Amino acid sequence: MSAQGKDDAQRPRLRSDEWYAGDDRNAYLHRAWMRRGVPADAFEGRPQIAIANTASDLTPCNAHLNEVSQAVQRGVYEAGGIPLDLPVVSLGETLVRPTAMLWRNMAAMAMEEMFRANPIDGLVLLGGCDKTIPALLMAAASVDLPAVVISGGPMLNGSFRGQALGCGTDVWRLGEEVRAGTLTAELFARSESSMIRSRGHCNTMGTASSMSVVAEALGMTLPGMAGTPAPDSRLLEGSHAAGRLAVDLVRSGTTISKVITRESFHNAIVALAAVGGSTNAVVHLLALAGRLGIDLDLADFDRSGAGVPLLVNLQPAGAYLMEDLYRAGGVLAVLEQVVDLLDPSAVTVTGQTLVEAVAGHPVWDPEVIRPRTTPLQADASIAVLRGNLAPDGAIVKPAAASASLLVHRGPALVFDSVEDLKARIDDPDLPVTPDTVLVLRGCGPRGYPGMPEVANLPLPKKMLQQGVRDMVRICDGRMSGTAYGTVVLHVAPEAAAGGLLGLVRDGDTIVLDVPRRVLQLEVPDEELALRTPPATLTDGFAAPRRGWERLYVDHVQQASTGADLDFLVGGSGSDVARESH
Ligand code: FES
Ligand code: MG
Repeated sequence: MSAQGKDDAQRPRLRSDEWYAGDDRNAYLHRAWMRRGVPADAFEGRPQIAIANTASDLTPCNAHLNEVSQAVQRGVYEAGGIPLDLPVVSLGETLVRPTAMLWRNMAAMAMEEMFRANPIDGLVLLGGCDKTIPALLMAAASVDLPAVVISGGPMLNGSFRGQALGCGTDVWRLGEEVRAGTLTAELFARSESSMIRSRGHCNTMGTASSMSVVAEALGMTLPGMAGTPAPDSRLLEGSHAAGRLAVDLVRSGTTISKVITRESFHNAIVALAAVGGSTNAVVHLLALAGRLGIDLDLADFDRSGAGVPLLVNLQPAGAYLMEDLYRAGGVLAVLEQVVDLLDPSAVTVTGQTLVEAVAGHPVWDPEVIRPRTTPLQADASIAVLRGNLAPDGAIVKPAAASASLLVHRGPALVFDSVEDLKARIDDPDLPVTPDTVLVLRGCGPRGYPGMPEVANLPLPKKMLQQGVRDMVRICDGRMSGTAYGTVVLHVAPEAAAGGLLGLVRDGDTIVLDVPRRVLQLEVPDEELALRTPPATLTDGFAAPRRGWERLYVDHVQQASTGADLDFLVGGSGSDVARESH
C-alpha cells in the first residue's frame, strides 16, 4: 500500500503517476503542493487534464475562453478527472507585431515544453484567433498526449446600414472604397463600432473559422462543435462534453497520433475547399503534418482538393457570415454534402469515423450552404503553381480571385518592401496599367521576418479611380484569410532565401496560368544569371541581433513545408524528464 491508501499496482498507470504515485519524499512534495483543497483521491489514478487556455485581454477573440474553461472543468470532474487550467502563450492577430505568424512557432514551442514538463495525462486545447489553434495542435502533436480541440467560436454577425458587415473582409472593401472616393471617411469611421458585436473570433471564413473547420475535419473536435457562435449556450454545453471526453481519451490511451492520420489531412483539405477556407490553413496543415511525421506536401492540396465544389456562401468568397453557417446546418451539414469525397477510414476523437459523424445533418438554408447540384463554384481547391518564379511552389485561391485574371500575362512592377509599397503605391506617376503584375517581395518567413499578411497589397489609387477592382499580385508573404483578389502568395523560395523573385525587374513579363498551374518569369536564363538582387532589397532583409527573432531567422523553413523551425519538426513524445529535486 502506498501513502495514498490504495495499491497503485492495481490500476492502469498514468503519466502523472510519475509525479504523484508512491510514498517517497518527491511524491509527497508533488501532492502536497497541488492538494490545496482537492481530495486525496485526486492523485489516485484520476486523469490530470490540462486545459491549455489562450484567453487573454490582448487576444480579444479568445478573451471569453476562461468561461469555456469552467465548462470544461465541470465535465472533467464529472468524468472522474482532475481539471487544470493552464494559461499558455496567446496571439492576437490584429495587434501582435510585426506579425502573429512570427510567434506561432514560439507559442507552439513554449506550449509543447510545458505540456511535457508537467504532470499532465490529457489536454483540452482552447483556441480561436488565427494562430492559436495551429500552435496548440502543433504543440500537442509533438508531445502526443490524448487531446481534444475546442474552438471558441465566431462572433455574431455585424451589420451596418442594413448590410452584413464581416470582420476583415469588409475592412478591406470599405478601405478601398474610401481610397476610391466612393465612401466618406466619416461613414467609414462610423462602421467601426458595428463590426465587432460580441465575443468570439472573426465571423468571416477567415483563418480562425477555417482552422476550426480544419480541426473538426481532422477529427480533433467533438463533431458539430466547430463554428458554434461564441455567445451560444451550446458552446458551453459542448465544452462540458469535451471535458468528459478528454478523461475517456486518457483512459483509452487515444493519443493525437491515433486520431490524425494522412487520411485526416485529406479530409481537412476537402473541408477547406468546400467552405472556401483561408490560404493560411495550407501553411498550418503542412506544419502540423511535419510535427506528426506525416508525409504531406503542397501538391496534396491540389490533389485532395481537386473537384471539391465551393458550397459555403460566406465572405470573403461569398456573402454570409459564420452565424448564418451555423444556422444553416453548420460544418457537419457541409461535410455531408461532400461525404463521397471524404476518406471513410479517418476517425474522430469520439472513435466514430468522420464519415459516420457527418451522417444525418441536413442543410436548412440552401442559400448559405449550397446543395451539391448548384455550388458557388465547381472547383474550389487551392491551386499550387510552379515555374521558375516558384520552383518549390506558390499558391493561389481561385475562389477568391477574378476569373478574368486566372490566365494573365503582364509587365512586372516591383516593390522591395512594405515601406517601399506604401511610399509609392498612390503616386500619380506610377507606371501602372490594369495589366500590370504587382510584385511585393521581402515578405517571406525569413525576409520580414515572420511572413506577414501583406500579399493582398492595395491597388494603386490611380487604378481604383479608373474603376479597377482587382489586379494580379505576387508576393512571398501571406494574405489574410478574410481577403480576396487574384493574389499569388507563399512564393517559395522567398526572395530572402535566394528565390528568383529577388531578381525580377520592372517591365519583366510575368505569366500566370492557373489552369496549367504555371507561374513563370519570361526572362532568358542567360540574362537572369547576370542579375543580382538590388542592394535595397538585400539590406531590407531581417538581421535581428538577438532573441527569438534571431533563432527564427536562422531556423525557419519555407512556406512550402509549413514555415516551422527546422529543429521543431517531428516530436519528442511525452516521456517524463528527470526529477527536479
Ligand atoms: Fe482574431 Fe480574426 S482577429 S480571429
Ligand atoms: Mg489573419
